[in-house]
Amino acid sequence: MNPELPNAQLDWDDQGRPYSRVFDDVYFSDLSGLDETRYVFIEQNRLKERFAALPADGRLVIGETGFGTGLNFLCAWQLFEEQAVAGARLHFVSVEKYPLTAPDLKRALALWPELKPFADQLLAQYVAIHQGFQRLVMDNGRVTLTLLIGDALEQLPQLDAQIDAWFLDGFAPAKNPDMWTAELFAELARLAAPDSTISTFTSTGWVRRLLNAAGFKMKRTPGIGHKWEILRGAFVGWPAETPAPMPAKPWFARPAPNNGERHALVIGAGLAGCASAASLAARGWQVSLMERHADIAQEASGNPQGVLYLKLSAHGTALSQLIVSGFGHTRRVLEQLHRGVDWDGCGVLQLAFNAKEAERQAQLAAAFPADLLHILDQAQAETRAGIALAHGGLFYPEGGWVHPPALCQWQASRPNVQLLTHRDVLELRKVDDQWQAWDGDTLLASAPVVVLAGAAEIKRFAQSADLPLKRIRGQITRLAQTNESQSLATVVCAEGYVAPARLGEHTLGASFDFTSDDLTPTTAEHLGNLQLLEEISSDLVTRLHADQLDADQLQGRAAFRCTSSDYLPIVGPLADGQAFNQAYAALSKDARQVPDVQCPWLDGLYVNSGHGSRGLITAPLSGELLAAWLENEPLPLPRSVAEACHPNRFALRRLIRGV
Ligand SMILES: Cc1cc2nc3c(=O)[nH]c(=O)nc-3n(C[C@H](O)[C@H](O)[C@H](O)COP(=O)(O)OP(=O)(O)OC[C@H]3O[C@@H](n4cnc5c(N)ncnc54)[C@H](O)[C@@H]3O)c2cc1C
Ligand SMILES: C[S@@+](CC[C@H](N)C(=O)[O-])C[C@H]1O[C@@H](n2cnc3c(N)ncnc32)[C@H](O)[C@@H]1O
Repeated sequence: MNPELPNAQLDWDDQGRPYSRVFDDVYFSDLSGLDETRYVFIEQNRLKERFAALPADGRLVIGETGFGTGLNFLCAWQLFEEQAVAGARLHFVSVEKYPLTAPDLKRALALWPELKPFADQLLAQYVAIHQGFQRLVMDNGRVTLTLLIGDALEQLPQLDAQIDAWFLDGFAPAKNPDMWTAELFAELARLAAPDSTISTFTSTGWVRRLLNAAGFKMKRTPGIGHKWEILRGAFVGWPAETPAPMPAKPWFARPAPNNGERHALVIGAGLAGCASAASLAARGWQVSLMERHADIAQEASGNPQGVLYLKLSAHGTALSQLIVSGFGHTRRVLEQLHRGVDWDGCGVLQLAFNAKEAERQAQLAAAFPADLLHILDQAQAETRAGIALAHGGLFYPEGGWVHPPALCQWQASRPNVQLLTHRDVLELRKVDDQWQAWDGDTLLASAPVVVLAGAAEIKRFAQSADLPLKRIRGQITRLAQTNESQSLATVVCAEGYVAPARLGEHTLGASFDFTSDDLTPTTAEHLGNLQLLEEISSDLVTRLHADQLDADQLQGRAAFRCTSSDYLPIVGPLADGQAFNQAYAALSKDARQVPDVQCPWLDGLYVNSGHGSRGLITAPLSGELLAAWLENEPLPLPRSVAEACHPNRFALRRLIRGV
């Protein structure tokens, strides 16, 4: 686990420019930051011509060391907007060890009025920026920013991307020698696309030599302002004398990109399907979103309120990394919805209801920064929550509740998404390069790409029948708001959860039933939920008059969660199970083998499922992950996390461990 990462510590000069206390250096040139950025990074990478040359479905990927104030990003975006045709996309990946706080970013960007239209969009999305990979989607998906929050030397090795142009920024080599190393340059080379270019504001001799040694052919070129010379270059290939980086294992390698028609069937219109549809549509795909019910979000994603609750680990597990990245992404998507009705960022309080939980919380508080989570004692917790509590706990100030159907609706109503209701897909057949969705004898639709997003129902398809998915029934109880319950100001959780009212009703959840197949709400489970409420706060029980309610009259709904055997979602391309076992049979004898056999992909078939009890946090980012696999784009998560979510992990484990 990374230690707590502080934000940038800044001083501001008399002209309002930021200066780093840690590095004792300026963020941009004294003369004109804009001119310098445009000359050093934009011109030297020939971005004007390259943006103008992009086809309508083309994209350019820029990588940067040191996001800082985002000035370089905004300048690149402004030029992209001027030069690139509609439909082309800009991907900007930037690593930043000390992100500016939102108020500091706002203050710094106010220096450039001409960038205001772009800066405003960045600022609107600059929320919940925590450690690891943080994806920001702007301008309806035309521009994607992936921030890697952490040290460049820790973050870049986890990146899976092909960078077309590198902006080698970061403070002056003399002020920041830890970053400007051969190790960093090897990473830039590993990530460089075949015709990648690079530029930097420094002309320091050892930087030039190390970049040359890493495979970039660097040239000195006249500088700007008080910089005599700067460096620009191009990637000419991995140096023969250095061992080449290991390629991805074939079962986790990227399938060949789809070069045909950009039309996808997404089967299932819950959080996973709607997110997949929105991410593909943002990339110019035509999406047919197929749902068996009369409307979207009728099953697990249909609860009136779900909680944005982060069940983290202090040990930096793949799941915990996914949760921090997914939470940030969902929070940023929600910024575009209607606060108070569609969602609310009222914070989530997780009570330390026993000694074990208190110990777990103390470990989390030591591992994560206070703006993500911090401990409140009992009195502070009561003040926050607005009700009497028996315990303090861990407070997530950016958490809150969401009306999941509103999120689904927002995603399903993106341009290019066509919702097809009353379509119950029973079978998938591949004919030539088209996947066909059949309901008995009726052909419902066909397309070269299909995304299976029907939660545990995806097991009905022969192609995905072996995925280890389980249904777990859950029931929530709806409680009418009272005068006294209006004081509840945050979501409060113990074993269950209760949220501040939405449209006059609180949601209280949720039961877990591993055996029942019946979705009729039961009184027994309502009573169980009331017991969960009692454990949260007896004061709230009184305020809600919950002890006087007639249990038989309680309202609620039940649905199935869908959980994978390792509790991570299943997101990515599907392979043919039998052919997979044959191709990699050698692994059952020796797990270290890497047979040089291409993975037998079911071309065009993808999965987004297994979101368990936390779909609000994992499903939207999984839509981005899925689109990145499909489009051969930078992955929005560390490679290791994407592999931990990969559908092939189970077949691989079965071969190696026999389970
Ligand atoms: C009681 C309860 C409480 C929860 N609380 C929270 C919470 O507080 N926070 C949180 O983050 N998560 C919570 N969850 C989990 C969250 O709701 C799920 O993770 C999420 O909704 C899963 O979304 P999904 O799209 O994968 O599945 P679903 O919402 O189940 O969507 C699947 C859709 O696919 C359709 N479908 C399936 N097969 C086919 C087919 N063959 N053809 C056509 N359509 C098909 C279904 O009709 C359905 O609409 C809760 C879940 C439950 C049950
Ligand atoms: C000169 S500023 C970058 C300016 C920025 N590109 C802009 O457009 O505003 C350098 C940035 O690099 C970051 N940085 C320095 N060392 C780093 C490292 N090892 N890993 C990641 N970021 C680093 C600093 O925190 C700082 O924000």
